[in-house]
Amino acid sequence: MKFNRLMVGLAAAAFSFAAFAQQPIVIKFSHVVANDTPKGKGADFFKQKAEELTKGKVKVEVYPNSTLYKDKEEMEALQLGAVQMLAPSLAKFGPLGVKEFEVFDLPYIFDGYDDLHKVTNGPIGKSLLNKLEGKGIMGLAYWDNGLKVMSANKPLRNPDDFKGLKMRIQSSNVLDAQMRAVGALPQKMAFSEVYQALQTGVVDGTENPPSNLYTQKMHEVQKYVTLSDHGYLGYAVIVNKKFWEGLPADIRKSLDDAMEQATRYANQIAKVENDHALAEVKKSGKSELISLTPEQKKAWKKAMVKVHDQMAGRVGKDLIQTIYKETGFNPDKL
Ligand code: LMR
Repeated sequence: MKFNRLMVGLAAAAFSFAAFAQQPIVIKFSHVVANDTPKGKGADFFKQKAEELTKGKVKVEVYPNSTLYKDKEEMEALQLGAVQMLAPSLAKFGPLGVKEFEVFDLPYIFDGYDDLHKVTNGPIGKSLLNKLEGKGIMGLAYWDNGLKVMSANKPLRNPDDFKGLKMRIQSSNVLDAQMRAVGALPQKMAFSEVYQALQTGVVDGTENPPSNLYTQKMHEVQKYVTLSDHGYLGYAVIVNKKFWEGLPADIRKSLDDAMEQATRYANQIAKVENDHALAEVKKSGKSELISLTPEQKKAWKKAMVKVHDQMAGRVGKDLIQTIYKETGFNPDKL
């Protein structure tokens, strides 16, 4: 009798161990944008690849559109291990204490994706990601979004047009300086609050690549969108370091492969997604698209590029110089 009970107990234990062993490893991937954006699509692609390559041993739960956490909370959640993966914009690492990432926010430092990739795919990009390790975070990849447009309820053609406008920015001091350089009043605000703030007049305008403007319907509450390409917005895909390093080696290898493929995919679609979003904004007729004349563009550059010097103390003079060398940017030749 005793023996039987023991056997039943052992069988139950073995069964629950097997059930436990089959439980997939869950990766919660939280982000703040719509599914239908370069980052949203990249996250969904990663989920699909990760589940496929690990044969279901890993389950990736994607939480888009700030459904789980807003900007600041998601960083804290990652450090605490409440989520395992994020892809915050490079403008959002200052509050974490890694302010060098704000170098990507410097106005006009990148002319386009080619310039940017010289930095993100090279040693500078790698050394920046390494700086996260002291914060319990590992940086896995850079994902592109694109160059930003500027929107408001009045046409923004000349630097003077910004005077006194309340402009929503991400949590970056470089962006704060950029807006002040043209006489605007920058307001740091979580992405999830921007649409309503524009709609109710809490802020007058904002900046973002077209894919974010369009998928959040910001163009429906902004009369004018200036195609200024004045700065870049992109992401670092980051994970909780302890979680990532604690994964079985074979699983981690498959996840690294999935991330590599997702990165290639996300960076391939970024430009197409932004071009499409801009075409949709135009088609909607809800806001007027403004192209700058060469003289106007020059005036924007002249007004904004002084921020590079102003912010050298924050992001690092050497870092800025190294990027100039990579991309050929010369602030004295505007
Ligand atoms: C923003 O807050 O404007 C962007 O960082 C949102 C995003 O993640 O693209």
